[in-house]
Amino acid sequence: MLLAAVFISTLILTLVLFRRRKGPVPPGPKGWPIIGNLFDIPEKYPWKVFQKWSETNGSDMLLIRLPGIWILHLNTSRSIQDLLVKRSAIYSDRPQSTMLGLTGFTWPFSLMPYGSKWRENRRIFTREFNIEIVRPHALQSARRLLPRLLNSDINYSKQIRLASSDAILSAAYGISPKSEEDYFVGLAESLSNALTDCLRSPYLGEYAISSSTERKNSCFIVDMFPIIKHIPAWFPGAKFKHQASEWRILSDNVQTKAYEHVKSEMDAGTAVPCVATKVIAALRSNSLDCSESSIRKKKLIFVSLSKLTGLKQTVGAICSFILTMALFPDIQAKAYDSIIAVIGPHRLPDFSDFGKIPYIDAVINEVFRWNPLAPFGVFRSVTQDDYYDGYFIPKGTIVRGNAWAVMHDAAIYGPSTQNFNPERFLLPDGSRNKAIPDADGAFGFGRRRCPSQAVGLDMVWINVVSILATYEIGEPIGEDGKRLDPDQIEYTNSMNR
Ligand code: HEM
Repeated sequence: MLLAAVFISTLILTLVLFRRRKGPVPPGPKGWPIIGNLFDIPEKYPWKVFQKWSETNGSDMLLIRLPGIWILHLNTSRSIQDLLVKRSAIYSDRPQSTMLGLTGFTWPFSLMPYGSKWRENRRIFTREFNIEIVRPHALQSARRLLPRLLNSDINYSKQIRLASSDAILSAAYGISPKSEEDYFVGLAESLSNALTDCLRSPYLGEYAISSSTERKNSCFIVDMFPIIKHIPAWFPGAKFKHQASEWRILSDNVQTKAYEHVKSEMDAGTAVPCVATKVIAALRSNSLDCSESSIRKKKLIFVSLSKLTGLKQTVGAICSFILTMALFPDIQAKAYDSIIAVIGPHRLPDFSDFGKIPYIDAVINEVFRWNPLAPFGVFRSVTQDDYYDGYFIPKGTIVRGNAWAVMHDAAIYGPSTQNFNPERFLLPDGSRNKAIPDADGAFGFGRRRCPSQAVGLDMVWINVVSILATYEIGEPIGEDGKRLDPDQIEYTNSMNR
């Protein structure tokens, strides 16, 4: 019965979309009636394939049609600037998930619909969670990482994950986790996994990814047919209801535990100064105005915890950096020399060196450019019917900016964009070549672009210079004992790599 309902609703949704066409729609693979392009989605690296298809079609855009939903890919800098940036008033919404609503995960502003509530949360977050607050914590977490890396048996990516969690947890709550087993690291990890599972749906712009290392895409049926959220939990096929109740408990814990921890540390006089102590002190002295206080207390503080999910990006960038240094020892040697030339042989780097080592800035830019960690950014949707380049884009279409395509555009970043070459950002005298833009596309576009780009870059920078100043990263050796072939190394095939 459920299946029949699913089929009929899909048919209706598809017909509705067809009826609403008010002009030619952007080009895309032809597909089949009702199922559309369900079988046209490439198994590997859709960002590369879609860019090629766009080129073949002679358009900046490529439309993928799935039952009941259209996903528009913007594959050039021009279309991204024109739509996500210049028309950001209608291209800054996030598609909403019914499942997310059932779980209670509606508080991270990164998932909120575009509007005044999102705007206020983002404004406060950006103001409170800034580089002045985060820098001392990022420095200490990088220093704590270095001795941990000495043990050659460790899984270094786990240590990097711990270091990044350390920086954010201590900046937000004054908590310095000693190991992966720490309660708050576990809480953030569970939250991150739950959100990923919740959002892993084509109805939110994520398509099936089939890679042995990544969980497959599956869509909660309630996201396809929101009406069934009203069925009782005992009803056959209502498994989503049980999952939602489990996640609701997690959501409650995330909202209360860290906040309570800081409050009790403050009462005991042992709290480490951080964003949360500042906010709680202001609440206690009534110096916050009321409209802000509830947001700050109940929402803002644990947004940072939710943004431990943003850590995936930071951790990914540092791991990506380690890989490139292992693959390209000459670049590593140059990077090391560039640091020592500035700090000398007797001290560790710190933020007083930030901006003084152009070769390191170039390496970091190239890490973000070469293999962007979120090649399609985060899903958006358009809030009203629109026209672009003579094509009709209906309201509700999911829109994705192809950051990979922009950062592999030779017209912007120079020749051989498939190669890892930090020098592309430099002039022959080693200073910054201002004609080549930073790899900003890695942080998204328009009004929903990452509000913590500076914080994220700081965290990556301090770990990069600290590791390079103290360690030599060896060649990558495969299980057969031979050097790995750089051409055979693959990044994960997921949307968040
Ligand atoms: C260096 C690593 C990072 C990268 C590459 C990165 C990248 C991104 C990208 C691509 C988006 C989506 C933008 C869009 O919709 O177009 C995003 C959003 C976001 N990021 Fe980051 N990010 C990083 C680090 C962080 C950190 C450390 C935090 C905070 C602790 C953070 C907080 C956020 C938030 C709150 C949003 C949602 C913004 C909104 O919806 O208005 N990010 N980030």
